[in-house]
Amino acid sequence: MMEKKCAKLILTNKNIKRVSGIMLEEIEMGLRQKSNKNADIKCYPTYVRNLPNGKEKGKFLALDLGGTNFRVLLIQLGETAPEKEFVSREFPLPDLIRTSSGEALFDHIAECLALFVKEFKVDKEIIPLGFTFSFPCRQEGLTKAKLVQWTKGFTCSEVEGRDVAELLQNAIHKRKDVHIKIMAVLNDTTGTLMSSAYKQPNCKIGLIIGTGTNACYVEKIENMELLDGDSDDSNQCIVNTEWGAFGDNGSLDFIRTDFDRALDSVTSNRGKQLYEKMISGKYLGEIVRRVLVSLAKDGLIFKDSSYKCLLEADKFKTKLISEIEKKPENDFTDCECILEELGLTDFTHEDCAKVRYVCQLVSRRAAFMAAAGVATLINKINEKHVVVAVDGTVYRLHPHFRHLMEQKIKQLIRPGLSFELILSEDGSGRGAALVAAVADRMKREEIYRNLLKKVFL
Ligand code: GLC
Repeated sequence: MMEKKCAKLILTNKNIKRVSGIMLEEIEMGLRQKSNKNADIKCYPTYVRNLPNGKEKGKFLALDLGGTNFRVLLIQLGETAPEKEFVSREFPLPDLIRTSSGEALFDHIAECLALFVKEFKVDKEIIPLGFTFSFPCRQEGLTKAKLVQWTKGFTCSEVEGRDVAELLQNAIHKRKDVHIKIMAVLNDTTGTLMSSAYKQPNCKIGLIIGTGTNACYVEKIENMELLDGDSDDSNQCIVNTEWGAFGDNGSLDFIRTDFDRALDSVTSNRGKQLYEKMISGKYLGEIVRRVLVSLAKDGLIFKDSSYKCLLEADKFKTKLISEIEKKPENDFTDCECILEELGLTDFTHEDCAKVRYVCQLVSRRAAFMAAAGVATLINKINEKHVVVAVDGTVYRLHPHFRHLMEQKIKQLIRPGLSFELILSEDGSGRGAALVAAVADRMKREEIYRNLLKKVFL
């Protein structure tokens, strides 16, 4: 009976293949000028076209905004020891700021930034900065990124449709106590890809499975109809797919469950980011909670009324899924503690086994959905061996996520192709500094080339 109620959470191989097939169509639509408007997967050009070559040097700042916290980093790149110096600070981002006005958000960021540069005594220098802003943006250049719409529960007013680099630069100028030049705005997936590409040239995909989910990949310029011509002569460009929005036009309805629909109906971005809502950390715990409540109401789990403590939204945090699944099958010690802490009483080992089963269903489905996405990109890139740089709390903390993904990707990619998933430590922070560094190097090289032209012509 319980199995029957949960059956729709199990994805058949046929359905996973179908997800991958539809995703490819959506990506192709997103890349083409004509069809982009109707595509769920928008495939935004990032204007990051040059990967680091190790010749970057100097001090660089990075800002990382997009999950539950906000971070500032200072990195020193040099010839002998890349990333010789690396310091960072994490600043809390209270819910109040996440849901207030754009002005309050950017003033807060500028203030944290000022505190940071003063603490590390670089407030008198002009330091290039890379800004990781992990939300869907339409970029018009490396330093011009207009927020399309907020995701992941952010709702600050008067930011959608505006250039976030300009909003940040204005907030910095207003303070008059620090001198910082924004060299690049990028997505966390791009940062993740960049920071691994620094060491691994085969790295062609950047993937995040954290509070939200998204992927970017390296595409040939000839396939990118949305990219406005610029002076850069590189023949590739990183595409920010924003695949979280996959399914928003109904294309995933064949696998979405009543639990998914009920969850979506109370989010701040209702009807949006439907693929993300099946995969990422902001939502997985909430899906588990909803399944448990529904089972309890039908008398299939937790026979006493204490299950009512689970009626509160967001009560079951996603990290609990990892903690419960970490233990061997018949060891319920952690699960018992967790249920007690949540307020449940009088539960049995059988209940614990059922909780674990629900966690497994939800996390497996998430891993397989993400795998379908990665396999689609690997097939699209169609190179013999592709390295995928991955970051994000769900991927990092869940004990089986990586293995489940690897298994499924292997089944979905074309014969002859191979891949490797590598963990990108702090990609979205370090990557931003690297993008700023590459932009800085390109600028210097251009100045140098122009100088040579003047001397020799
Ligand atoms: C959301 C954002 C996207 C980001 C992802 C992971 O999907 O829209 O820009 O990359 O979360 O943080």
